[in-house]
Amino acid sequence: MANTTMAAAQIFGISRMRQHQAAPTLIMCSNTAKGAEEFSRLINTGCKLVGCGSAVPSLRVTNNDLAKFIDTNDEWISTRTGIRNRRVLSGKENLTDLAIEAAQKALEMAEVDPKDVDLILMCSSSGDDRFGSAPVIQKALGCKHNPLAFDITAACSGFLLGLFSASCYIKAGGFKNVLVVGADAVSRFVDWTDRGSCILFGDAAGAVLVQACDIGEDGLFGFDLHSDGDGKRHLISTFKENETDDASSENPSMTSFPPKSSSYSYLQMNGREIFKFAVRVVPQSIEAALEKAGLAGSNNFDWLLLHQANQRIIDGVATRLEVPSERVISNVANYGNTSAASIPLALDEAVRGGKVQPGHVIAAAGFGAGLTWASAIFRWG
Ligand code: ACO
Repeated sequence: MANTTMAAAQIFGISRMRQHQAAPTLIMCSNTAKGAEEFSRLINTGCKLVGCGSAVPSLRVTNNDLAKFIDTNDEWISTRTGIRNRRVLSGKENLTDLAIEAAQKALEMAEVDPKDVDLILMCSSSGDDRFGSAPVIQKALGCKHNPLAFDITAACSGFLLGLFSASCYIKAGGFKNVLVVGADAVSRFVDWTDRGSCILFGDAAGAVLVQACDIGEDGLFGFDLHSDGDGKRHLISTFKENETDDASSENPSMTSFPPKSSSYSYLQMNGREIFKFAVRVVPQSIEAALEKAGLAGSNNFDWLLLHQANQRIIDGVATRLEVPSERVISNVANYGNTSAASIPLALDEAVRGGKVQPGHVIAAAGFGAGLTWASAIFRWG
């Protein structure tokens, strides 16, 4: 198959295996020079991960620390979840600073100057400002040319949806260096008196630098992305009006104006349903992403890297996919569930610890509130 056709096959999601079977006919619709240039960029551009970084708060909270103020114990938490410690923001620490630190480390590893970054995607559901934090990261990094920076809210699937978005921007939009940051501080909205949920979560940030490259070096092989609003009720933190503040009652002709002060409720979770959802959809999704990548089968990737929610979920998915534990990346014991940060945090530790080497292929999946779930098959470096 000609290089151009093979490149186009990858862009349009035709699997690596099928590329060898039948060459699709591509019809170029534009006859303008600009159209030809755009088409050429679309089919000749790939993207690869060239840097990663992470940052965690200084305060470590052990299971025994939790047992001092809620009715739980280390044995229950570690047996049911695999979690032993988590990090929690404290004092003057904030989430944006963690995100900035993670992004700086990713840029350093990639040897990319902040002035060459042309898109920042901050994936978070618990940012310091509800209008988003990505532009603050852009300013703090010293990106000179005001590159586009915005936030993506998709809970624990956020990072992989950010990675997918980065690939779309690079392949179709002409962006070259895209920072994808996953950062969450779920500690801010868990009910610390609810032993069924507060034991699970921690705070952290992780980042990767995704860079445009020639299609022959493309390192993002396949994605599988889903949402199901019907399951939303199993994991929510909803906006609600403050019952005690009834300013509108002073004016009987406008009973619903001005609005009452409001806030978001604590995270409310049906743990069993989320557990069942995860072990059902994640293996299917990874298999679909592998299929799209032309890499179907559990021996066609080096590492399984799941959202770090619960060691039992990780083990259950690995068993269904027949991936041995030596090929499973897990750091849930040390950090708990850090939502959108968990995949880039675990990736960063595995890369810096020498586990994940350049050229290794990773099958990753995120899942959580929304409900959303997403898988990606990608090469490191
Ligand atoms: N310590 C001691 N006992 C506890 C605790 C605790 N921390 N929490 C619950 N229990 C008790 C319950 O009260 C119950 O007691 P009972 O039998 O007397 O009624 C018993 O333990 C069993 O409770 P379950 O909730 O059935 O326990 P389960 O085995 O389902 O484990 C858990 C609960 C760990 C929450 C599990 O369901 C889970 O991990 N689910 C997935 C949750 C998840 O990953 N959520 C995040 C998704 S990602 C995102 O988007 C944020």
